[in-house]
Amino acid sequence: MSDHDVSGPFDNEKPRPAGADHTGAHAAVVTGASTGIGAAAVRHLSQQGWRVFAVARRADRLEQLAHETGAVPVAADITEDDDVVHLLSTVTEAGGVDTLINIAGGARGVDQLAEAKTEDWEWMYRVNVLGTMKVTRAFLPMLRAHGEGTVLNLTSTAGIVSYEGGSGYNAAKFAERGMTQALRLEEAEHNVRVIEVLPGMVHTEEFSLNRLGDAQAADDVYAGVEKPLTAADVADIVGYAVSAPHHVNLDEIVVRPVAQAAAHKVIRTPRS
Ligand SMILES: NC(=O)c1ccc[n+]([C@@H]2O[C@H](COP(=O)([O-])OP(=O)(O)OC[C@H]3O[C@@H](n4cnc5c(N)ncnc54)[C@H](OP(=O)(O)O)[C@@H]3O)[C@@H](O)[C@H]2O)c1
Repeated sequence: MSDHDVSGPFDNEKPRPAGADHTGAHAAVVTGASTGIGAAAVRHLSQQGWRVFAVARRADRLEQLAHETGAVPVAADITEDDDVVHLLSTVTEAGGVDTLINIAGGARGVDQLAEAKTEDWEWMYRVNVLGTMKVTRAFLPMLRAHGEGTVLNLTSTAGIVSYEGGSGYNAAKFAERGMTQALRLEEAEHNVRVIEVLPGMVHTEEFSLNRLGDAQAADDVYAGVEKPLTAADVADIVGYAVSAPHHVNLDEIVVRPVAQAAAHKVIRTPRS
């Protein structure tokens, strides 16, 4: 067994196969857990018997989710080094994890590059790229030592196709995707698998609101789209990918609603 297996939260009396506790359950850190896809992932994994550490900045929301799911709340800003140190020590003391699910991220603005706002670009780079890097860097020794570690990065179809008004978010998600691909190559020798999930349009409570800044503009993103993906749809896929036998690496999973055949082709029915 490794130094950092998932023993703490579980009964550690019997020897267990690497990557699982005696009941076959796993343990994961999920970032971006206070709302949207991250919260849905916490719900999904908790229902499947996973031990989950739910991470985001808003402690009150994490407490509610913890109450509902049994997850362990850890309030942390993933872009702040001290918070990442605190997160790692909290999880280590509670027994560790075999899986890291990086979902925290987001978009700010839809300006074309000619009008790019430096602060929006910096925000997007910090959370999507540097935050994901910092948490992953902190947890890699634990995942390697476990013997069957998993990292899942939630990027976006914005990381494979650019669009007008997307340059800042495209740049951040292309960067997060590039980092993910390098990580897969670097960690294979350590038997850490690296999964990337790339969703298209997902109707979450806050993503477009935060990006566009007002409720009407956020509603318009999904106007007339019969069935955008939901956070639960994406959480199911995340859950499937991290629950597959460890030698099975779903390298890249692109998922869109049928109504969005491509970034530029969204089927909308006119409002009556
Ligand atoms: N919605 C979509 O259409 C869509 C499509 C493709 C990909 N994605 C990607 O999927 C991920 C989740 O999307 P979503 O729609 O669920 O977004 P969301 O509703 O805006 O949620 C973003 C989450 O990230 C957390 N977060 C933001 N900055 C953080 C920081 N510095 N430290 C810790 N946590 C932080 C937020 O929590 P706090 O504010 O409490 O910290 C929140 O839990 C993002 O990476 C997004 O880019 C979304």
